[in-house]
Amino acid sequence: MYFYIFPICVVAVALIVIGCVKIYIKLTTKWARSPTCLLGKTVIVTGSNIGIGFYTALDFAKRGARVILACRDYKKGEAAREEIIKKTDNPNVFLKIVDMSSFESVRAFAQEINKTEDRLDVLVNNAGMAIVDDEKTKDGLLMAMQVNYFSLFLLTNLLLDLLKKSQPSRIINTSSILAQVGTSFSVDKLHKYNGNLDVYAHSKLAIILFTKELAKRLEGSGVTVYSLHPGAVKTDIFRNAKGLIGSFMTSLFKRWMNLFFKTPEEGAQTTIYCAVEKNIEKFSGHYFVECRRVNDYKRATVPGLGEQLWRDSEEVVNLTN
Ligand SMILES: NC(=O)c1ccc[n+]([C@@H]2O[C@H](COP(=O)([O-])OP(=O)(O)OC[C@H]3O[C@@H](n4cnc5c(N)ncnc54)[C@H](OP(=O)(O)O)[C@@H]3O)[C@@H](O)[C@H]2O)c1
Repeated sequence: MYFYIFPICVVAVALIVIGCVKIYIKLTTKWARSPTCLLGKTVIVTGSNIGIGFYTALDFAKRGARVILACRDYKKGEAAREEIIKKTDNPNVFLKIVDMSSFESVRAFAQEINKTEDRLDVLVNNAGMAIVDDEKTKDGLLMAMQVNYFSLFLLTNLLLDLLKKSQPSRIINTSSILAQVGTSFSVDKLHKYNGNLDVYAHSKLAIILFTKELAKRLEGSGVTVYSLHPGAVKTDIFRNAKGLIGSFMTSLFKRWMNLFFKTPEEGAQTTIYCAVEKNIEKFSGHYFVECRRVNDYKRATVPGLGEQLWRDSEEVVNLTN
């Protein structure tokens, strides 16, 4: 009899702990409650075929926006487009292809947008990947660094004139709490492989630094820019991971962390908040978590680092050409 009591107690305690954590997550997750209507507005969401990006695009479509899904895979993007139209009855949802691992593709995408769109009110830079070892792109950069940061830098700059023309407009950049981990940051580290975690962490810190620097450069233009951490969200972000770390992270995320993470819809709320909340323009350049502005990570406050990063990024993406 006693033989069974111990394991039963362990299971019961584990279930209670999981239940309490789940209730805590539900109670502390903030929702973007602003009723802002987006009729007549055009929004772009990169990486919107799945995960946080999908639910962000779905919300914008519900608000009546003309939504451009910027995805790399036609089939997945088209499936997302159909699902959003079906769920919202908003026929103004379009798919355009962009591969953030290629500057050529980013330039072609931006050129098409600039040619075909009269306005751009919100640009959500959401596309990202977590772990790909030291794989390089055909532009010769670390894959996750180019997808997460350098292409975001290029795309944003190429769409700036359209955003300025449509002001008041907003740019939302998806970073991560992991921006504050890894080895200490320096601009030259964006080009060296120092382990998977460093590449991801540095790409996400670069996004925060870029956001702050861009806000300074955009002062008075009517275009504002925000960076954010969406929370720990149940998505397939580690699907490109390889090797032992890859299998470990995938299984950790899929089987265990799922129990404690937010749903992708919950994870989209801070992005949506930054896009539609009224009167946050004064916080341009700031970092948001759980639908509120929070202090910068210490690593993002080093004087001069944002300008240095900007100069390096301009060179890397060949911005002036
Ligand atoms: N999940 C979390 O806990 C968490 C935490 C902090 C920050 N974030 C950030 O949140 C953002 C969204 O991630 P998620 O969790 O929603 O993951 P996800 O479900 O894997 O979504 C990532 C999106 O980015 C796209 N993408 C990846 N590589 C691309 C490329 N080369 N070109 C164009 N699109 C590309 C993916 O397209 P495919 O489907 O074609 O691969 C997908 O649409 C990412 O920036 C991520 O770093 C997530």
